[in-house]
Amino acid sequence: MADKKMIVETLFDAVDGQLAKADIERFIEKPKHTHLGDYAFPCFALAKIFRQSPTNIAKEVSEKMVNSIIEKVEAVGGYVNIFLKQSEISKTVLSNIVTFRSAYGQQEQGENQTITIDFSSPNIAKPFSMGHLRSTVIGNALANISEKNGYEVVRINHIGDWGTQFGKLIVAYHLWGKKELIEQSPVRELLKIYVKFHDEAERDDTLNDQARAAFKRLEQGDDEAMRLWHWFREASLKEFEQVYALLGIRFDSYAGEAFYNDKMNRIVDLLAEKELLEESDGAMVVNLENMPPCLIKKTDGTTLYATRDLAAALYRHETYKSEKSFYVVGNEQSLHFKQLFNVLEKIGYEWARELQHIPFGMMLKDGKKMSTRKGKVVLLAEVLDEAIELAEKNIEDKNPKLQHKEEIAKIVGTGAVIFHDLKNHRLNDIDFSLEEMLNFEGETGPYVQYTYARICSLLRKGQYNDQECKFEGLSEEAWPVIITLKEFPEVVTKAFELADPSQIAKHLIELSRAFNKYYAHTRILEEDATMQAKLTLCSSVAIVLKEGLRLLGIQAPEEM
Ligand code: ARG
Repeated sequence: MADKKMIVETLFDAVDGQLAKADIERFIEKPKHTHLGDYAFPCFALAKIFRQSPTNIAKEVSEKMVNSIIEKVEAVGGYVNIFLKQSEISKTVLSNIVTFRSAYGQQEQGENQTITIDFSSPNIAKPFSMGHLRSTVIGNALANISEKNGYEVVRINHIGDWGTQFGKLIVAYHLWGKKELIEQSPVRELLKIYVKFHDEAERDDTLNDQARAAFKRLEQGDDEAMRLWHWFREASLKEFEQVYALLGIRFDSYAGEAFYNDKMNRIVDLLAEKELLEESDGAMVVNLENMPPCLIKKTDGTTLYATRDLAAALYRHETYKSEKSFYVVGNEQSLHFKQLFNVLEKIGYEWARELQHIPFGMMLKDGKKMSTRKGKVVLLAEVLDEAIELAEKNIEDKNPKLQHKEEIAKIVGTGAVIFHDLKNHRLNDIDFSLEEMLNFEGETGPYVQYTYARICSLLRKGQYNDQECKFEGLSEEAWPVIITLKEFPEVVTKAFELADPSQIAKHLIELSRAFNKYYAHTRILEEDATMQAKLTLCSSVAIVLKEGLRLLGIQAPEEM
């Protein structure tokens, strides 16, 4: 049993069951300093129940606390401070880590269950926006975290490869497109003519009509339109794939919106059969309680984003038999997903309750939204290149003799961008600042990576051999490191339950801080009786840092 659970049980008995276990768990605090104990339990909420002062209650409770992992209990004011048996726990934690290595923290709760995660999902012929970057990074981390919790994960890229924007592009291509340029740099060129289309359409109304007509031709399967669509799609995908390769991300399915073209009739018929489909100004809608109706077909008979999502949900449910589904999409689409889930529930699909929108905030630059409109775009590939370049400069300053600088700069640059995104709760807006991301001393990816590399160097210098682990004789200073290592499995569970990768990121910062403090006070490479134990501790920290970074989608360089 996890230690915290054991403490909760013991406290539950000590308060004569007068407080629910869930409440006890909620009240338990982690003191800022370990000399105040490893856990603290405030008794203020009990004052009313026992009609006594919190100080008295704390005294009584602490006298009743007995548990095999507890060293001592102290009552201080209204608090019960709990101290764990350090040497026993150190031994258990470290031996667990060196035995299980990267599987340390692996959970079983999701075993034999599948979860589909819809993430990244950029739109063809529109740039890969910062919103898509966030979805990519958050979705990938959630996929890894789900696997670490035992789930089978299906990674789905619901590419935006259908819709009226293709009508606009076809028109724009006929007017201004240059074949060679598009072949050279598809996303950039397609974006250029797409932006031009919008500019021109402000002056010339007929362009939008032409675009509608072109999209209609596409929906009817017109040869020329289909050929262009195919080309735009393939060319853009190839470019997106380069970004995925750089970030080390893969997908199990690229079934995008167009994939559902022949699967929508079924859902539309079903809606009609259940008498959920209603006419409204010539369009077909499903009316919903407490929210605007969900549009299923436009007046001209064409389908919509929502129609395709309905078909996709059904298809995924039948194909993957998934127990859960996450949609990692910006919070501006909250209404869309509410409507989607509601319509599915109205049809009578019980499983619709297991569909979950995982929203996130915006990426800002100097406090403003990073716009993809009007050509003011920041292309993702360029952002990553810039981060890598800056990382290379930093490495050049710090460690000019380093080998494989380019490779390492790639790991550090992309790691910095990813970590910066994941270290705050996803719903917060984040400010895009390359300098801040790449700061080796702040709460950054490079800081964690640097800590990892420093440990690797210690292990090399100390000629550490993992067959000779020792767990005894560590100093008092090692305890904060160990207690942080001990929490990693709990953090893995919590990150999944809250669908919140920042739990992991914050934990890695905490672990790096704790380790660096230990390192500042301890001569690790001093040849004394405890050197093997010190190196075992170092190695354990390295294992957890590397695994935690992996969960976030970040590599850990052994030197930097
Ligand atoms: N392509 C959409 C966009 O960029 C995101 C798609 C998200 N996934 C979904 N199943 N709707 O806005």
